[in-house]
Amino acid sequence: EKGGYEYFMLKEIAEQPQAIADTLLGRLSDRGEIILDEVRLTDQDLRDVDKVFIVACGTSYHAGMVAKYAIEHWVRIPCEVELASEFRYRDPILDRSTLVIVISQSGETMDTLMALRHAKEQKARVLAICNTNGSTIPRESDAVLYTHGGPEIAVASTKAFLTQLVACYLIGLHLAQIRGVMYADEVAAVVEKLQATPDSLRTLLAGMEDVRALARDLKTASTILFIGRHVGFPVALEGALKLKELAYMHAEGFAAGELKHGPISLIDEGTPVVCVVPSPAGRGVMRDKVVSNIQEVRARGARTIVITEEGDDSVKAFADHLIVVPRTPTLLAPLMTTVPLQILACEIAAARGHDVDQPRNLAKSVTVE
Ligand code: F6R
Repeated sequence: EKGGYEYFMLKEIAEQPQAIADTLLGRLSDRGEIILDEVRLTDQDLRDVDKVFIVACGTSYHAGMVAKYAIEHWVRIPCEVELASEFRYRDPILDRSTLVIVISQSGETMDTLMALRHAKEQKARVLAICNTNGSTIPRESDAVLYTHGGPEIAVASTKAFLTQLVACYLIGLHLAQIRGVMYADEVAAVVEKLQATPDSLRTLLAGMEDVRALARDLKTASTILFIGRHVGFPVALEGALKLKELAYMHAEGFAAGELKHGPISLIDEGTPVVCVVPSPAGRGVMRDKVVSNIQEVRARGARTIVITEEGDDSVKAFADHLIVVPRTPTLLAPLMTTVPLQILACEIAAARGHDVDQPRNLAKSVTVE
């Protein structure tokens, strides 16, 4: 049932190109419009939305963080992202024109469900992104966009995360289109790039031998730090989360710009720092900033593991280990840059002798608070 893979997690990582393709399938009308499923909201309801709140836990929360960048860029309405366990005990300001997007692989996460109910009590519209048909969260929501990732068995979320990203992109594009902020051809251009990601991901997955060797090297590190900017920041957080949950190692993700405000003191001779470099296309300034952050940590002794886009050769000089990913537009880059981090965590955990699919103290579906 593991299809020849040693762990479900490796199988699910390998299934990601197909999972993305399946999540995109059938979501475009003949006229190039995006079709959502189980939408009990009218286009007018969506046009009236003046604020988006994204609420989720763990890895699904990281997908929400990426979505914020895409939604604010494309739709031009304010978007906040919050952990469900915090949102539900606050008094967030919501009303009929607030769209609350809840993201949950299982559809049963208690904190996310309670956050959803909290939102509905205040008359907000709730749209769920979920991988499990008929689970509680989509049943209680006003609209649902199912991710078609297929069952995820490993406790650590991988393909669910990438398909959640795809779902978030589709929602962002849909909102932009029906609100008239993006023209159909602009939406189509992004969709075309999205449709190219499964192939790019297959290429990436075929070249991950180096990451496996690196994992064996890093298995005795006392900490691993992850830095990124813009959408690379949630990717850094996700890389650190995967490592904590699977390898039981200390790991932390930071916004690269925050290094000087504290975390840079952690850097010691040989401290591994994984750096997610933004694409030089489009956001060149941001890329240059990350490159100077890499130089800063390196000057303090860090061992740098640099994830960069194909063709961006100038970072090579600052990388002790270089991981190259295929080109993608900036906002879609997490579909690529996350994957080496999943493999890294999985392989480090395996090298340390842990049960990759069933890490200690964790459950696949967290139905308690
Ligand atoms: C991490 C992981 C968890 C879940 C979180 C939310 O690999 O799997 O952090 O992402 O428990 O679960 P769902 O998405 O089912 O609500």
